[in-house]
Amino acid sequence: VQGALWGGRFAGGPADALAALSKSTHFDWRLAGYDIAGSRAHARVLHTAGLLDDAELAGMLSALDQLDADVRSGAYAPAESDEDVHGSLERGLIERAGPALGGKLRAGRSRNDQIATLGRMYLRDHARIIAAGVLATVDALVEQSEKHLGVAMPGRTHLQHAQPVLLSHHLLAHAWALLRDVQRLMDWDKRAAVSPYGSGALAGSSLGLDPNAVAAELGFDSAVWNSIDGTASRDVYAEFSWVAAMIGVDLSRISEEIIIWATKEFSFVTLDDAFSTGSSIMPQKKNPDVAELARGKAGRLIGDLTGLLATLKGLPLAYNRDLQEDKEPVFDAADTLEVLLPAVSGMIATLTFNTERMQALAPQGFALATDIAEWLVRQGVPFREAHELSGAAVKLAEGRGVELWDLTDEDYAGISEHLTPEVRTVLSTEGSLGSRSAQGGTAQSAVEQQLAALKLEVDKA
Ligand code: ARG
Repeated sequence: VQGALWGGRFAGGPADALAALSKSTHFDWRLAGYDIAGSRAHARVLHTAGLLDDAELAGMLSALDQLDADVRSGAYAPAESDEDVHGSLERGLIERAGPALGGKLRAGRSRNDQIATLGRMYLRDHARIIAAGVLATVDALVEQSEKHLGVAMPGRTHLQHAQPVLLSHHLLAHAWALLRDVQRLMDWDKRAAVSPYGSGALAGSSLGLDPNAVAAELGFDSAVWNSIDGTASRDVYAEFSWVAAMIGVDLSRISEEIIIWATKEFSFVTLDDAFSTGSSIMPQKKNPDVAELARGKAGRLIGDLTGLLATLKGLPLAYNRDLQEDKEPVFDAADTLEVLLPAVSGMIATLTFNTERMQALAPQGFALATDIAEWLVRQGVPFREAHELSGAAVKLAEGRGVELWDLTDEDYAGISEHLTPEVRTVLSTEGSLGSRSAQGGTAQSAVEQQLAALKLEVDKA
């Protein structure tokens, strides 16, 4: 077969069905630039090892430059007969450098160590793009938090009114989760910054090539210490995929809230027209499709991760062709997040909050009952009893169809002598919020400190 990387020991070419199954150029061609970068570095270590002379190195590098330019311009593309990106680029190199020189580059390397390295290079670059997209989402949340500092909303557990919180506090909860995702990508990069190049097929190279020189030229911190590990492991891909899935899940949780908040019943937010869609039949519709696609794509990202893990689980060391299936899930994860993140950050940045409604609903649904109990604790009442007394007030108010602050001083005195009129100091959203001023709490002073702390972490990211 023209351009094939193997064939010497075979009497005939592969069956069409095998060739069709085996082929990966339709998804691995995006690694072409990394493959050529690897080839330049490999040519240099062949030269250092005395396997290419000065003229051969110069000829090889210039042929690789031509090939690179032709790949970028689209003048060179994989042929139908090319199995994978490596084989196709070797064909292109030989067309430019001639078989005598072009045929020398494959010495001391294997597609097994090449592909493991190129995948890491690709993912490291895309992890940076994704981290920037996540940070833009964090920025949008921070800006909305600063803009609405002081606005209260109903804090919920079990989706029921629980305690009032600041809208900023709620939004920043999402920001912290996303910031940790960025930190995860940064931490992941330490493990991804190790180059498998030089591992050969599995056992390393006998040609005296320096893996660390290749690693340094390709932007890695070092080369792998174990050639079997270098060619057979894909935990670095799986970890990338896990972080991508986690980002998807975090975006999905924000999105789910936005979908709920945008309902007529909630009416907490209005989506900007630029980030809403209409209906082909119902003229009045304004739909939160960005948020729904984020929720949907989280499922897809989880699928990418679980598919990859399932591919890896039964593989003996070292390389097995199953590993060709490692690329589509991680490419899909990167593609998905790169298209999703700008839409989600834009949707959040342009949200309008119905602050009056959020503020008015914040204390409702007996959301101040915990404040009564904690106020009683400050008066020396054991919490167990305080909880009962506050519960009795809720029961009384609920029976009358009123809120806690509608009960009279006599009502409170009737429940317990401890429930003096001073309890009213906490029977307001402001009183409730203001009392939660320790680090991590929802008092405005605590949220202002939180914002400063978050921004410090964002600056480090
Ligand atoms: N295309 C393969 C992959 O993506 C690399 C080639 C290794 N092939 C082989 N027969 N050893 O993993």
